[in-house]
Amino acid sequence: MQVLLTGSSGWLGRFLAPLLRKAGHDVTGLDVASGADTDIVGSVADRALIDRVFAERGIEAVIHGAALHKPDIIRYPAQRFVDVNVTGTLNLLEAAVAAGHDRFVMTSTTSLMIDQRIRDEAGDAAIWLDESAGPLAPRNIYGVTKLAAEGLCRIHHLTHGIGCIILRTGRFFPEDDDTHQLLSGPNMKANELLHRRLTVEDAARAHLMALEQAPALGCETFILSAPTPFSRDEVRGLKQDASAVIARHFPDAASLYARQGWHLPRSIGRVYDASRAERIMGFRCETDFGSVLAALREGTDMPFAHDANYVSPQVQSLAD
Ligand SMILES: NC(=O)c1ccc[n+]([C@@H]2O[C@H](COP(=O)([O-])OP(=O)(O)OC[C@H]3O[C@@H](n4cnc5c(N)ncnc54)[C@H](O)[C@@H]3O)[C@@H](O)[C@H]2O)c1
Repeated sequence: MQVLLTGSSGWLGRFLAPLLRKAGHDVTGLDVASGADTDIVGSVADRALIDRVFAERGIEAVIHGAALHKPDIIRYPAQRFVDVNVTGTLNLLEAAVAAGHDRFVMTSTTSLMIDQRIRDEAGDAAIWLDESAGPLAPRNIYGVTKLAAEGLCRIHHLTHGIGCIILRTGRFFPEDDDTHQLLSGPNMKANELLHRRLTVEDAARAHLMALEQAPALGCETFILSAPTPFSRDEVRGLKQDASAVIARHFPDAASLYARQGWHLPRSIGRVYDASRAERIMGFRCETDFGSVLAALREGTDMPFAHDANYVSPQVQSLAD
């Protein structure tokens, strides 16, 4: 298929574009910043450009990964988030419907499920988050505009029948977390694979699978995260003494971590449950916390990318 991939210069885009090509698709990459997989430098907010790209390239399906996201909050005004994340999504959906597409895949975020109460993690149990979580009250312009974009997908499915898969993706960024500095970046990422992270390679695979299944699935929302080893009846233990719960699942985790000078989380405040994507779409991340322990045991490279200095190409282009 002729696939339009937005955000093709970004972190996800540079893994997803080659995967799509390998699966036999022709990819048109569109991004405001140039990149190896970007054919058209321009904005999703530019409707005339989108229409031209659809016509000239014979686009048959869209994977919409472009966005302003959380690190951009300090860089851009709220209006830019609305322009890119909301108007940009609407432009693509309208163009897709006009062209008679049967599928549309949108990269969303687990962040829109995090209201202030969840973020504060004040309760005495971890919060278990699946796709039924709600009412949703995102706490920043990123989450608010992504939730609006999800709504646009839904109404275009309802009104026009286009298959829309919304992938509420957990963390896969390669850089350090801007809010936690206590642990090293790799230690933090390893810990997060227990309950709120996936690799960028797994995120890319999920998008390819969603593209293939969207017409049959209709309109679906899936959380993407590495499969958690925990279950709902462990939420109190996770909040109060996460290391003890982890030890039950992975008896050698503490010693493997100690050898590395790493620390297991003492308390886990939220868990993303990605089992619906597995049940409905048959998607399961290949890399999980067990993969980290296997790498520690065997002394091989960590199964996830870490790049403390990664900056989005759009931000890089501002600096150049
Ligand atoms: N990185 C994460 O951990 C994470 C987690 C959850 C969801 N997401 C979502 O994944 C998607 C991809 O993010 P990423 O991590 O690859 O980020 P990224 O910043 O590396 O890539 C995003 C790309 O979108 C492009 N872009 C921004 N505005 C645009 C516009 N107006 N028109 C066209 N392109 C534009 C940027 O130039 C950039 O290349 C985003 O939708 C993001 O919200 C990311």
